[in-house]
Amino acid sequence: MASMAPITAPTGTSTQALERIGAHSHIRGLGLDDQLQPKPAAQGLVGQSAARRAAGVVVKLVNDGRIAGRAVILAGPPGTGKTAIAMGVSRELSEDLPFVSLSASEVFSLEMSKTEALTQAFRRAIGVRIKEEKEVVEGEVVEIIVDRSLTGATKTGKLTVKTTDMETVYDLGQKMIDSLQREKVSAGDVIAIDKASGRITKLGRSFTRAREYDAMGSDTRFVQCPEGELQRRKDVVHTVSLHEIDVINSRTQGFLALFAGDTGEIKPELRDQINVKVGEWREEGKADIVPGVLFIDEIHMLDVECFSFLNRALESDLAPLVIMASNRGLTRVRGTRYRSPHGVPIDLLDRALIIQTKPYSAEEIKEILNIRASEEDVDLEQEALSVLTRIGGETSLRYAQLLITTASLAARRRKAARVEVTDVRRVYSLFIDERRSTTYLEEHAREFMGDVDFEEGSTTAAAVPMETSA
Ligand SMILES: Nc1ncnc2c1ncn2[C@@H]1O[C@H](COP(=O)(O)OP(=O)(O)O)[C@@H](O)[C@H]1O
Ligand SMILES: [Mg+2]
Repeated sequence: MASMAPITAPTGTSTQALERIGAHSHIRGLGLDDQLQPKPAAQGLVGQSAARRAAGVVVKLVNDGRIAGRAVILAGPPGTGKTAIAMGVSRELSEDLPFVSLSASEVFSLEMSKTEALTQAFRRAIGVRIKEEKEVVEGEVVEIIVDRSLTGATKTGKLTVKTTDMETVYDLGQKMIDSLQREKVSAGDVIAIDKASGRITKLGRSFTRAREYDAMGSDTRFVQCPEGELQRRKDVVHTVSLHEIDVINSRTQGFLALFAGDTGEIKPELRDQINVKVGEWREEGKADIVPGVLFIDEIHMLDVECFSFLNRALESDLAPLVIMASNRGLTRVRGTRYRSPHGVPIDLLDRALIIQTKPYSAEEIKEILNIRASEEDVDLEQEALSVLTRIGGETSLRYAQLLITTASLAARRRKAARVEVTDVRRVYSLFIDERRSTTYLEEHAREFMGDVDFEEGSTTAAAVPMETSA
């Protein structure tokens, strides 16, 4: 078992890394006011107020550390913002709380067992906030002198650092010189050096150098020259996920696997050991467990084994909040002959809070499309927006969004800056939506090769439509 010091895995791998290609890039939060009431349109989210209010309450509970081991289901027809709201939740979580997003089908496609994939997702979603005391040197750089040996192969040097009260000269070795150069440290910079690792952090420019401002970029940050002792003890807190601790400590994987993302299976005994160790850190006051959020999209794709795993995992004392999304109504639970709401077995449903999303009004569709257009830097003529809105209402919001992107390409081809109705019409005939596609397939069924006996839940054709007016 490694000691605490080496566990300095990169944090924040969870939210950004797993976000999909920008379909929700316009969403910056849930758009709530101080009372957790949703504003009509804010932070990229429009309407859907009941669901957003409920999501806001959930976020509050998670941020307060009070809802671990529970489940939430976002249920509603396709394109009603379930994934969008989940992304909103991720933006609202306290900064170091992990948010892990997973599409249920990924559980089957990874090169590991279903339960291993789910276990890893669970452990990614649990943060361990580790408190460490570090010794640092913090001060303003007075001078850096580097002596090259005659051959130029080795370097030695001296670094003079000061606070308002004292000044000290440190001898520099090759490694420190390299990292000073890498960080582009020069006289007048206020820096912190971690004594254990030798890591150098630039805190900013000293105010005394503010006169040279013109010579620097406008992003230069000015700070006070530190006071008092040069060497000080600092409490630093960093958060890693349980999964990161697993990977670092698994001998066959090691640190590099974290960056490769290819971690393979991890032995259960190792996880047990790590749970014990983390428990000890907790008792010694060195670490806190901070359960985050695991989001599983398209939950009806999971089968009964996955569900029973989820049920068990939610009972353990190391569990995140699990948010699931489904656009299915009453449908068969995969791997069984039973039907259940959202394709989720009753025992799991029983412990879940269900949040419903509802279809949008034309006004709301228009507003969302407008936001997407500006997100993609597309200039839409009013009339084109109206046409897209109508298409969005009659087909799907997502299809209308895709037309924004493609219509803007069409506009560019005719060297126009704005997207007009002609562009929309053009791409509308080029790319068909799901309903036209289905109609076509039904009319021409004989000309295609088909799989007659496909499994329920594996295609949209087999979907049981969601009841929205319930
Ligand atoms: N209330 C909303 N405000 C802003 N954008 C939304 C809203 N609801 C959906 N969208 C956007 O519309 C598209 C489809 O929504 P999505 O969340 O994928 O639907 P679902 O997950 O319910 O099928 C996405 O690009 C999403 O970001
Ligand atoms: Mg979705």
